[in-house]
Amino acid sequence: MRTQYSSYTLTEECLERAGEALIPWFEKGKEVLGLEEYPLRRLAGEVAELSSALIKGKREDYMGKYLRAYFSYFFPQGFLKTYFVLCEMKKILDLSWGKNLKINDLGTGPGASLLAAREVFSHLNPSLSGIEKNRQALELARKISGEKILPGDFSKMKIHGEIALLVSSLSETRFPLKTAAKLWENHRCLVVIEPGWAQGYSLVMNLAKRLGPPLLPCGGYRCKLEEDDWCHVALPFALPPLTLRLNSLLRHKLKYLKFTYGVFCKNAGLKTWGVRLRSPLIKEKGKTYFLACSGGKPIRIEQRGRPGGGFLRANCCDLVEFEGNEISPSVFRVEDIKIKTLKEGAG
Ligand SMILES: C[S@@+](CC[C@H](N)C(=O)[O-])C[C@H]1O[C@@H](n2cnc3c(N)ncnc32)[C@H](O)[C@@H]1O
Repeated sequence: MRTQYSSYTLTEECLERAGEALIPWFEKGKEVLGLEEYPLRRLAGEVAELSSALIKGKREDYMGKYLRAYFSYFFPQGFLKTYFVLCEMKKILDLSWGKNLKINDLGTGPGASLLAAREVFSHLNPSLSGIEKNRQALELARKISGEKILPGDFSKMKIHGEIALLVSSLSETRFPLKTAAKLWENHRCLVVIEPGWAQGYSLVMNLAKRLGPPLLPCGGYRCKLEEDDWCHVALPFALPPLTLRLNSLLRHKLKYLKFTYGVFCKNAGLKTWGVRLRSPLIKEKGKTYFLACSGGKPIRIEQRGRPGGGFLRANCCDLVEFEGNEISPSVFRVEDIKIKTLKEGAG
């Protein structure tokens, strides 16, 4: 019989820590914006208008018009996604930083990704700075974080540092690939996070053609998904009560945060790797399975018989190692997945 196990589960512990780290920053922003006194239904209406504007690509001054709505609904999501991706960098990537870790958050908005970076890399006492073109968002980010946020258009500036964070901002620039290529010249790592839809995936893949396949989430493998398919992750983060209330008023389905990301780094390796789960557990037509990725190739991992505890606990993004022969080129069938936890990396 084959044995199968998850080589690590970052996800569960990271989700918990991310949720806890978010609370004080979210409370501070709520206070600055006077959200306790703001009528909830009105706020929900503004979130609905903002979401529809963003989906239609109407991005003109959305931060100025809908700052309260953006903060209440999207700030927590930006924070949690960034926190997760940076935790992965810290745990899985084999890279050591010099004495002065400089992180640039480009398109800072109200500061979600900047603050997540401060939390995850606090042990390295990084020097953080943000660039934001919208005045109202910039002022709010300054008030919440107390960090240096500069006004301006990052696509037109010369910026140096170790890590460039581009969280839902690269796709808003006129020439995203050119902008990323310019930042790549003066940074060791680019962290690109985009919404989990086809355009987000396509942006990361187009970047991969220029910079090479991302180390995360792809392990440096070229993605072999067909043209008409795309990949995103879906993680069950704990959102703050206000965001959840808005979510239920709007009948949105924020059970999972869905996003696409790519971490591109120079002179870095991987501490560990395995088959990557790229979906939560799916139950469909009597089958229980995960979508996964093996060396860039899409595969399925199916449960044989009744799902065991480990199989049910595995999460999207976990890495799974196998022993034994594969049953068919695209489907692995397993008895169970044993969960192991990887020790926190020092880097
Ligand atoms: C969707 S928000 C994301 C904010 C933040 N990164 C987060 O995760 O919550 C995108 C932000 O990028 C800013 N932005 C877009 N293009 C920019 C540019 N070229 N220069 C500076 N800021 C830009 C927008 O004003 C907006 O605040």
